[in-house]
Amino acid sequence: MSNALFTSLVGEFDRLRARFPAGFDSSLTLPCLRRIQEERGYVAEEDIDALTAYLGVPRIQVEEVLSFYTQFRREPVGRFHLEVCRNVSCSMRGAERLIRHLHDKLGVAIGGTTADGRFTLKTCECLGSCGTAPVMVVNDEYHENMSPEKADELLGRLG
Ligand code: FES
Repeated sequence: MSNALFTSLVGEFDRLRARFPAGFDSSLTLPCLRRIQEERGYVAEEDIDALTAYLGVPRIQVEEVLSFYTQFRREPVGRFHLEVCRNVSCSMRGAERLIRHLHDKLGVAIGGTTADGRFTLKTCECLGSCGTAPVMVVNDEYHENMSPEKADELLGRLG
C-alpha cells in the first residue's frame, strides 16, 4: 500500500541518513517518527510499516520508541492538542482545577476531542517545568503558571 506522506519525506530521511555512520540506520527511528508526526499529526500504522521497511529494523523497535516517548500520538487529535501536566508540582498548584475547568468548558472527557475537531484534552506526566506549575502544552508550545482564567483567554485566542 502506498503511503504518500511517507514518500514525501523520504528525500529528507535520505539526507539525514547520509549524516550517520554506516550501520546506524536504527538511530534514525526517533527523528523520522518526529517528522512523521509533525506532518500527519500522529503516527499511523502505515507509517510504522513504511518506516520499518525503510530502515530495515524490526517493527518492535519502532513500537518501543513510540511507547517510550509519550509525546508520540497513535491516533488523530484535534487541531489544538491540549496536554495538562498532573504530576505533583502541577497538582499542588492547581492542575486538577484547571483540568476540571477545561473538561467542563470543552464538554469532553480526558482523551476526548470536541465535536468540531478543534480541541483534544489530555493529561500528561511532568513536563520538566515544575517551577512554573501548573503547565499546559498546546501543540508542543508551553503555557506556564496556568489558571482557568488564563486557559479561557488562551482558548479564545486560538480561535
Ligand atoms: S510536575 Fe508539572 S511540569 Fe513538573
